[in-house]
Amino acid sequence: MHAGIDAIGLALPPLTLELAALARARNVEPSKFLEGLGTTRISIPPVDEDTVTLAVRAANSALENAGVAKSDIGLCIVGTETAVDHSKPVAAFVHGLLGLPSGCRIYETKHACYGATAGLQTALDWIRSGSARGKKALIIGSDIARYGLRTPGEPTQGAGAVALLVSDAPRLVAFEPGKVGTFAHDVNDFWRPLYSKDAVVDGHYSVSCYLEGLEGAYRAYLERADGPRGEGPFSDRFGAIAYHVPYGKMAVKAHRHLRGLEGDADPAKSFERLVAPTLVLPRLVGNIYTGSLYLALASALSESPADLAGREVALFSYGSGSCAELFSGTVQPGAQARARASGWRALIDGQRVIDVAEYETIMDAREAMDTRAAHDADGPGPRFLGVRDHRRIYSA
Ligand code: HMG
Repeated sequence: MHAGIDAIGLALPPLTLELAALARARNVEPSKFLEGLGTTRISIPPVDEDTVTLAVRAANSALENAGVAKSDIGLCIVGTETAVDHSKPVAAFVHGLLGLPSGCRIYETKHACYGATAGLQTALDWIRSGSARGKKALIIGSDIARYGLRTPGEPTQGAGAVALLVSDAPRLVAFEPGKVGTFAHDVNDFWRPLYSKDAVVDGHYSVSCYLEGLEGAYRAYLERADGPRGEGPFSDRFGAIAYHVPYGKMAVKAHRHLRGLEGDADPAKSFERLVAPTLVLPRLVGNIYTGSLYLALASALSESPADLAGREVALFSYGSGSCAELFSGTVQPGAQARARASGWRALIDGQRVIDVAEYETIMDAREAMDTRAAHDADGPGPRFLGVRDHRRIYSA
């Protein structure tokens, strides 16, 4: 049975911060953030924005893009590493706010940035096995990537959600079973202790863990994938390669590493064709953790000048801690036109640019957001209004 991504929905906070301005405020050369890290802007969530509000908006957008009714959803998994409760899953809030059917299975997955990929693989197998019985799945990656002010991680923040509508009649990308290579390794490269809102990261080590994961997953993928060998780089068969994008430069390093494994002495030559289109949107949003890889996929579909119809795209998912997966799927006819009509670029262009003082005020206020008393909504929902009787309250 066919299974794949039928539609993609994107949600971003309404605010954004230019990294050139952040660099000046931190006495750093702007070129370090813009070129050295390869990111231009990072999305900043106001205090009434959280993983739930982003997830709901992304899911609504995916459903609208696909023209699919909520009653058709039989599985909803939210991958997140910045959940809002130790027990109640973000998926339960999403279920309520979206009005999904009571027969819909809902839960949350956590493995750093890998969580949404775990959900996607589960949904594909659920459909292929016949258990879905014609129903569709909503797989959402929703996160607020947050490091401490004035830390090396600060310019690699971001916030956003990507929702994937997964079905047996995918109009964007279809995935064949088995074209997956996995690599897991227990490492301490990035984590978030229970007592902290900010992630702890061993930054340079995390880069080497990412590359180790890429190498392991790629070797595992090659063992399972069919096709010609020994005729130039295997990855030339792909129309695009979407890597997990914590910051733009990481995808440059990843591509260099992967092509090096294939004996390519000039990896930069294939970068423009295979990778550059995947970075157009992520460079303007920053790291959105679980959604980052799927933002890169959305970027490939909407920004690539090449005709990708019928071509295979590779996706590399990395979750610190760690689990890495390389898998591939085939772009469906008409997918790029659908992606271009989705309005993702307009969403980014519509964000309000804030200055560093406003950003720091918001970051300070977010410290207390999980305990502030609920108040009335001051705009259209869904918004996080605060807490009453230990319950999180949202406007519809
Ligand atoms: P840093 O130490 O501040 O930066 O932290 P640096 O000194 O390594 O410089 C960065 C790059 O800028 C270097 O280029 C410099 O040469 C260049 P590279 O050698 O890497 O090619 N540079 C300049 N370029 C132009 N003009 C200049 C200039 N100065 C320097 N003037 C680091 C960088 C990424 C470590 C830090 O931001 C960090 O800790 N970020 C968070 C961790 C992270 O994103 N890790 C990525 C891999 S792990 C991952 O992806 C998983 C994750 O998403 C979490 C999850 O799974 O949930 C994070």
